[in-house]
Amino acid sequence: MILGHAARPLRGHGTIGSVTLQDSAFLRACRRQPVPHTPVWFMRQAGRSLPEYRKLREGVAMLDACSRPDMIAEITMQPVRRYGVDAAIFFSDIMVPLKAVGVDLDIRPGVGPVVAEPVRDLADVRRLRDLEPDDVPYVTEAVGGLVAELGDRPLIGFAGAPFTLASYLIEGGPSKHHEHTKALMYGAPDVWAELMRRLAALTLEFLRVQIAAGASAVQLFDSWVGALSAEDYRASVLPYSAWIFERLAGFDVPRIHFGVGTGELLGLLSEAGADVVGVDWRVPLDRAVQRVRPDTALQGNLDPAVLFAPWSVVAERTDDVLARAEAADGHVFNLGHGVLPTTDPAVLERLVEYVHTRTAV
Ligand code: CP3
Repeated sequence: MILGHAARPLRGHGTIGSVTLQDSAFLRACRRQPVPHTPVWFMRQAGRSLPEYRKLREGVAMLDACSRPDMIAEITMQPVRRYGVDAAIFFSDIMVPLKAVGVDLDIRPGVGPVVAEPVRDLADVRRLRDLEPDDVPYVTEAVGGLVAELGDRPLIGFAGAPFTLASYLIEGGPSKHHEHTKALMYGAPDVWAELMRRLAALTLEFLRVQIAAGASAVQLFDSWVGALSAEDYRASVLPYSAWIFERLAGFDVPRIHFGVGTGELLGLLSEAGADVVGVDWRVPLDRAVQRVRPDTALQGNLDPAVLFAPWSVVAERTDDVLARAEAADGHVFNLGHGVLPTTDPAVLERLVEYVHTRTAV
């Protein structure tokens, strides 16, 4: 299904309520417009660091939780209520669209995604079919309900990027070295290209479903792409991520692109077409500014491990992130990667308030 601009539902756009949604600090920062305060959200803000999340998830498998609109909505709202973050991120997982097209996979606690039959040849790749909106009705339903509940607070939709999805599919699970992935990429470029084409189409459709239901920004997670050299990224990954960003351009929804260990790749992640580049904690934001395209906002980048240090250290490091971010045109405060499961929720709550106070104009 191709959704043109005109075909896009008006929920949250062009209606009276949309004036404040479109004027929210988060969307304004993504668009590099002046903000009343630096907006804050946290990657993996919904999840195991929250006792109310653990309670709700008792006896419910991760992928089952991701297919129940009532659970999706409640878990998405939990960090919004507790932390007062400037944006909600849809509760799901990057593996959900793969599961929805019939890939036999599970998400195991403490391990991550595990794929029963890893993808290794063309026949395996050809079994991967396209995603249709009807494959994920629970996503459409949950996003629609959340957008109504969130009002002028933006909902961020997301998907895994083709490389990171390919790595899980080919390795069969989490991987430190991505050796089978690289073996396929180097040794069977035609199979690689076909796999990346199919994953790009799946990712685009998963994002379009969320946008059509009212998500007002999207983040493409290429979490493990830092395993690649810039040359390999440019030749074997960038074209597919760029294809996705290009097709999202007409939706007027800010596009965020994030990966871990991507210091050497920031320029290319930006070149792929993002409006906002997410930076991990290894590259100071004032240096990151010099690596991305002009007219690109930055998101990041406090080291999530810093939240385990005394508050005075958290405050000092946060001040440093904010000071360096002044070099950027637009800044969305976030961690340099996801919230670690044993993080104290009280520290995250205090951090949101701290960033808001320090940056209030
Ligand atoms: O950010 C949010 O709060 C929204 C929800 C979200 C989840 N996964 C929920 C989740 C998002 C945005 C993701 C994305 C995701 N999933 C990524 C990209 C982000 C990143 O961290 O780099 C990746 C690589 C995955 C794959 C995945 N799913 C991993 C590595 C794990 C952790 C496994 C573990 O238990 O250590 C998951 C499971 C997962 N996804 C959990 C949550 C809340 C934990 C499952 C649980 O609570 O039982």
